[in-house]
Amino acid sequence: MDKHKLGETAKYLASKGILAADESNASCQKRFDAVGIECTEENRRLYRQILITSPQAKESLSGIIFFDETFWQKTNEGKPFREFVEEQGILPGIKVDEGLVDLPGFDGEKISKGLDTLPERISKYAEAGAKFAKWRSVITISEAIPTQECIGANVYVLARYARICQDAGIVPMVEPEILFDGTHSIENCQEVMIRTLDALFYTMRAFRVHLPGAILKTSMILPGKDSGKPIDYVDVAERTVKVLHEHVPDELGGVVFLSGGQTSDDAFANLSQIVQKGPHPWGITFSYSRALQDPVLQAWAQHSTTDPSELFAEQLKKASVAHAGKFKATKKDESFVSHSQDL
Ligand code: G3H
Repeated sequence: MDKHKLGETAKYLASKGILAADESNASCQKRFDAVGIECTEENRRLYRQILITSPQAKESLSGIIFFDETFWQKTNEGKPFREFVEEQGILPGIKVDEGLVDLPGFDGEKISKGLDTLPERISKYAEAGAKFAKWRSVITISEAIPTQECIGANVYVLARYARICQDAGIVPMVEPEILFDGTHSIENCQEVMIRTLDALFYTMRAFRVHLPGAILKTSMILPGKDSGKPIDYVDVAERTVKVLHEHVPDELGGVVFLSGGQTSDDAFANLSQIVQKGPHPWGITFSYSRALQDPVLQAWAQHSTTDPSELFAEQLKKASVAHAGKFKATKKDESFVSHSQDL
């Protein structure tokens, strides 16, 4: 394992921002259905091409996460997407979990699959130029869950995947997503985040993961989406920063956030507040899918007069301003409906 190289790659990834363009075909189907676009392979290619060829991408992004199909797709000119982005200084990444299945014996809890075939898949991606790989696990909050068994089973898989990636020269982006969906309180979310992070880093160390060569992809500490409680940016930032500072090792390569179904403005404003509460021991930035893409997909689908690639450039600029700690929400952008990410 080249620890130095892994560490440098991880630091670079957290230095600007990351676009998550790694929705599985099933997730893509839901999002395309919602805006009335046929979810064909070619439409998925055309849509992703708008994102990755944005001239603003090289200013705002240090990495893009692809889904398997997109990783192998090409621009209209015949250049593989992964090579096109790397020429702009944007590192190509790949989502390597194969979605969620029920955790037998634990109602309402999930585990991600794909670990058994990971060693072969990861060497293929590494050979083709992938520099990092994301694995998403999901923790749901409800009355009696998450159980410690569910947290334990998921962090075990995350730690093993992370070590497999590092042995192949790939930086793992370890994502234990605590779902925003639910009626839980912000205090409950905070308590679950602490339990998850403590178990995760204990297990990653036990499985000999080189922490400076790994990235944490995390949710923010939020009140449940259906709790009826509004999002208070200062409260979210204070809780998130306190928990990260106390439960994430300083030596980690970087911390990035998912947007989780927040509106774009909320996701940018929360990140901005979090950055302002620095200094942080690691680079901290965004790794958003929905918060960056929702308005763009709508404009593309509606053949809006606003050019979708201009709209995407605007979203990226806002995200970069948030990454600099200078974003101010001006209005609630609830017109942009967010859809659950379930795969
Ligand atoms: O795994 C989650 C995605 O990479 C981020 O998606 O920003 O829509 O939550 P999101």
